[in-house]
Amino acid sequence: FGSYVMQRPAMGHISGVPLDQNTWASIWSFQAHPEDIVVAAYPKAGTTWMQEIVDMVCEDGDVEKCRRAPTYDRHPFLEVVAPKPVPSGLQLAEQMEPPRILKTHLPIQLLPPSLWERNCKVIYVARNAKDCMVSYFHFQRMNKGLPDPGTWDEYFLTFLSGEVPWGNWFDHVIGWWEIKDKYQVLYIFYEDMIEDPKLEIRKVMSFLGKDLSDDVVEKIHQHTSFQAMKENPMANYSTIPSFVMDHSISPFMRKGIVGDWKNYFSTAQSDLFDEEYERKMKGTDLVFRSQL
Ligand code: PPS
Repeated sequence: FGSYVMQRPAMGHISGVPLDQNTWASIWSFQAHPEDIVVAAYPKAGTTWMQEIVDMVCEDGDVEKCRRAPTYDRHPFLEVVAPKPVPSGLQLAEQMEPPRILKTHLPIQLLPPSLWERNCKVIYVARNAKDCMVSYFHFQRMNKGLPDPGTWDEYFLTFLSGEVPWGNWFDHVIGWWEIKDKYQVLYIFYEDMIEDPKLEIRKVMSFLGKDLSDDVVEKIHQHTSFQAMKENPMANYSTIPSFVMDHSISPFMRKGIVGDWKNYFSTAQSDLFDEEYERKMKGTDLVFRSQL
């Protein structure tokens, strides 16, 4: 797995993003501000969608302000040292005045401690694993900074073994679920966002202590719809050069639906996955209603 092993100080290693020890140490010592807001998710769970919602809520529905820069320049991606023009998350965060909206895909045990110590608000987005897997497969095809996923059949096994950047889906969603009541964590499901976006937008508003009018909620809803975000160069990653993200292979805003896994999983794969799901989720009260 080579460079895709991320070391946690004194805690062994997990599958993760390509980081050397020094970079990881500086991420681990990130200093949060109590007003910072974190959007956390397993990759491809709806992170960018939630970032756009949070930005709109924080900007009181001002679309122009939310078009001030591409997503990756508005919201520092904590653990990423990306090829230019994407700045390193830490550098960007340091240049910004708090309160900042921070993005992370880190599993719970790797979140920089300062975010807990300052009791920052975290919005975690979870998406059913099968759709995450399909979305991640296409993302690893188009994102040249990530390992080539190989064929779908190969990727199915790689994902199941957890040997993908940011590690095992089960550990991620369960880990965040288990600490959500201990800290200020709002746990949101992608499938709920699809079903009733305004309801989930209101949950975010209430969590962030924002009381916005129905008109503003409607504006947020419109601006963060799949179609609007797909067409918005400040949200759809089209400003990243094609040698980093090749949208002709697969666009970042690909389908934005629930259940696309049915177009990819064979019956045998689905059965195997369901068995693994039953085994791994036993003992938690976390339920993905569109998982099985
Ligand atoms: S990343 O790279 O990990 O930050 O990706 P992330 O943003 O978490 O996930 C990308 C998937 O989310 C879909 N998406 C949306 N779905 C519905 N509505 C809106 N507004 C929206 N914005 C992004 C995006 O299309 C990816 O899913 P797939 O299944 O690949 O289409």
